[in-house]
Amino acid sequence: MSAKKIAIANQKGGVGKTTTAINVGIGLAREGKKVLLVDFDTQGSMTKALGIKADALRHTICTVMDKALEGDSPEQLKCYMEEFVKLHQEEGVDFIPSNSILAGMENTLLDERPEVRNYILKGILDIYLEEYDFILIDCQPSLGILTLNAFCASDRAIVPVQAQFLALEGFEELIKTVRRVRKKLNPTIDIEGVLLTMTQKNTNMTRQISESLRDKYGRVLNIYQASIPYTVRLGECAQKGRSIYSHDRKSPAADAYMDIVREVMAYE
Ligand SMILES: Nc1ncnc2c1ncn2[C@@H]1O[C@H](COP(=O)(O)OP(=O)(O)OP(=O)(O)O)[C@@H](O)[C@H]1O
Ligand SMILES: [Mg+2]
Repeated sequence: MSAKKIAIANQKGGVGKTTTAINVGIGLAREGKKVLLVDFDTQGSMTKALGIKADALRHTICTVMDKALEGDSPEQLKCYMEEFVKLHQEEGVDFIPSNSILAGMENTLLDERPEVRNYILKGILDIYLEEYDFILIDCQPSLGILTLNAFCASDRAIVPVQAQFLALEGFEELIKTVRRVRKKLNPTIDIEGVLLTMTQKNTNMTRQISESLRDKYGRVLNIYQASIPYTVRLGECAQKGRSIYSHDRKSPAADAYMDIVREVMAYE
């Protein structure tokens, strides 16, 4: 087994990255896959949405990165993660938590040589290549050094786009960043798909965003057929630390996320 590593990224905030990471991750686990979720956001939103008080944690992805920068071996890093960092969510996924302390890591990385600073996350996640089928990285809303680390550590990226006014602002920059990473830093990275989120049936806004996405990018990027409908149920999930499947299996969002899970499994 060699884990597929997927970054869930968009520098625009609040577009559904964390919700997608959790529900695609748990959806893959429901299909029998071994899944590791990685919270790579200084807000620790995924950690919180999986039911953990992020800011009380002493051991997070940030402390693993500190140890990697200090020169710990992969074996030492693995022991540390297994004992102190990695957590398990009852619906069948493991995860590496994060919190606001990760914000300080940006400056630490910027002081490092490029060969080191871009690949710290990759070095850490590759320890788990043989143990998981999928490793999903929930990125923060920026294209800074942390997100670059996520792109350097990943084989593919999923880009959630919110069906909202100005949804495609910054989109070009995101695509350019992934292309630049592919050319210079990680030849395997590719955008697997663009996922329209928070869609509302029969509204002009959803229709317009969906059409302009397909018109402008449909020939060069895979735009998922399925989109995620707007539903308060997904917001409730985060409060309860659960996925949509256990919170409201009948929600159309649960079916939509399972459609995406099947596309993710079929992608090669
Ligand atoms: N399909 C949806 N319908 C309704 N609400 C949603 C949907 N998807 C996500 N949300 C809610 O919208 C908010 C933003 O979603 P989420 O945290 O997943 O976005 P994000 O891109 O990770 O945000 P950030 O950029 O801050 O990391 C959350 O409160 C979430 O519960
Ligand atoms: Mg998020």
